[in-house]
Amino acid sequence: MANDLTGYEVVLGVSGGIAAYKAPSIASALVQRGCGVTAVLTRAAMEFITPLPFRAITGRKVHTDMFDLPAGGSDPHIHLSQSADLLVIAPATADLIAQLAVGLAGELLPCLCLSADCPLLIAPAMNNQMWAHPAVQANVKTLTSRGVQLIGPDEGWLACGSTGPGRMSEPPAIAARVAELLLTNPPRSKT
Ligand SMILES: Cc1cc2nc3c(=O)[nH]c(=O)nc-3n(C[C@H](O)[C@H](O)[C@H](O)COP(=O)(O)O)c2cc1C
Repeated sequence: MANDLTGYEVVLGVSGGIAAYKAPSIASALVQRGCGVTAVLTRAAMEFITPLPFRAITGRKVHTDMFDLPAGGSDPHIHLSQSADLLVIAPATADLIAQLAVGLAGELLPCLCLSADCPLLIAPAMNNQMWAHPAVQANVKTLTSRGVQLIGPDEGWLACGSTGPGRMSEPPAIAARVAELLLTNPPRSKT
C-alpha cells in the first residue's frame, strides 16, 4: 500500500494545550498505517487528557516521567527518540516552543528533543494573541531556522472563544505530513 508506514517509528509528543484531546486521533491514523507510535505527555498535557487512550491505541507504554526508569533498560530521556524516524509534537504549546528554542530539558519531552537526532515536526496550538506575540514568533523563527518543521497553526474558531490563527492543524493533516516526511527516507530500522 502506498501509505504503508510499516517499520517506521514515531514519537508523538503532547504538550498541555486544549487541543491535546485530538492527539490520540493522530496516533490512530499512524498506527492504522502500520507505524510504531510511542506517546510522550508533559505534566500539563495530563491536565487535558490521560495516557490511557494513547496506551490503548498504540499498544505501548506512554511516557510521562523522566525519572520513571525501566529496570535494566535504557533511559527514555535519551533513547526514546534515538530510535525514532520522526518526533512530532501536537499540540505544541507556547511554553514548549519556548523551552525548545532555549534548549531547556526540565521534562521528558523537551529533554528528548535535545537528544533526538531525527527530524522534528511541531503543530503549534494556542490563542491567537499568544500566537501573534513577538516572543512566540521569535521562538518559532529560531526553531525553523534550525530545521524544525512546522504545520499550522490554522485559522478558525479557538477554544478560548476567539477566532484567528492558533488552531491546531487537523489530525488527518498532521498524520499526512508525518507520513510524507517519513516516506522521504527508508525506516531507520532498515538502514
Ligand atoms: C484551560 C487551559 C487551556 C490552555 N490551552 C493552551 C493552548 O491551547 N496553548 C498553549 O500554548 N497553552 C495553553 N494553556 C497554557 C499551558 O497549559 C501552560 O503554558 C503549560 O505550562 C504548558 O506546559 P507544557 O508546555 O509543559 O505542556 C492552557 C491553559 C489552560 C488552563
